[in-house]
Amino acid sequence: MVDIHNDILIKEVINQKGFIDTQVDPSLDLFLEIEKLKKEKNAIILAHYYQEPDIQDIADFLGDSLALSQKAATTEADIILFAGVHFMAETAKILNPNKKVILPDLKAGCSLSDSAPPELFKLFKLKHPNHTVITYINCSAGIKAQSDIICTSSNAISIVESFPKNHPIIFAPDKNLGAYINKVTNRNMILWDGACMVHEIFSLEKILKLKIRHPKAKLLSHPECEEPILAISDYIGSTSELLKYSQVDTSNEYIIATETGIIHQMQKNSPNKTFMAAPPNSNCACNNCPYMKLNTLEKIYLCLKYELPELLMDEHLRIAAIKPIEKMLALSKHLLK
Ligand code: 13P
Ligand code: SF4
Repeated sequence: MVDIHNDILIKEVINQKGFIDTQVDPSLDLFLEIEKLKKEKNAIILAHYYQEPDIQDIADFLGDSLALSQKAATTEADIILFAGVHFMAETAKILNPNKKVILPDLKAGCSLSDSAPPELFKLFKLKHPNHTVITYINCSAGIKAQSDIICTSSNAISIVESFPKNHPIIFAPDKNLGAYINKVTNRNMILWDGACMVHEIFSLEKILKLKIRHPKAKLLSHPECEEPILAISDYIGSTSELLKYSQVDTSNEYIIATETGIIHQMQKNSPNKTFMAAPPNSNCACNNCPYMKLNTLEKIYLCLKYELPELLMDEHLRIAAIKPIEKMLALSKHLLK
């Protein structure tokens, strides 16, 4: 455990460990303390819908990956605390080289991002020359730097459709999202073989049984899910699209096939409706993203207090990675949240 009151506290130690490992007085009102620190430091908390409910509630801005990158591109705060995962904080840093970007736990990675190591991707691209590379934002800066344009699940179809029908495209790293876009847009993009561990854990058999027990429940799924789940879904969309659908649709019961964090907002916005998390394959809570859930209120408090751990980035990498992100933002202005 790092002794925060000791001079040994150095940025490198914290950044090596990934988070500040120290005790927080359990009697502290963390909501109040976090509010105070935010004001004092002109800091903003950006949070993804997959964060735990308390974190969603203290966030200054809550959104899906697209909305969060749009907000990160325009914020005037001096410090951005990213309550999400590493690739999201990295995107914020790429867009804000002069701001301090902090992440409560640097080890909050992403299985999808990990499924595309930059060195292997370089070789994959060499095998498919003359292809435009469209990359899902859930990837490292090293992959972004090798891409022509980035997309998120909210704008993926419109980004792909901005290219002519027969244009040769590599889509990475999510093969499920890629296959879904291929089907919807009637294309044949070459897919990188990556996936999200959370969205691949849902059990078709258990969902079908749940649908029998709740015949009126609609299945709402994220396009990172596998095809058999998407095939029986009533609606497919990004996190924010699923949330919106659950608000405007007239049904009363829903089965949600994405990370469970979104159910907090669905329930808040539609208190009289019933939301059930789609069951995973084993008797685990694997529909909770283990990376997103590394962030806690205590870690957010310590992260804001000590402005650590900080996300740092090589400037050459940042310059290479910003171009495809800016292209996406320019093409997504009509989808501004
Ligand atoms: P969206 O925020 O685009 O819905 O993506 C979900 C996700 O997996 C984020 O890690
Ligand atoms: Fe990555 Fe999946 Fe977690 Fe999103 S839910 S951060 S894609 S592992």
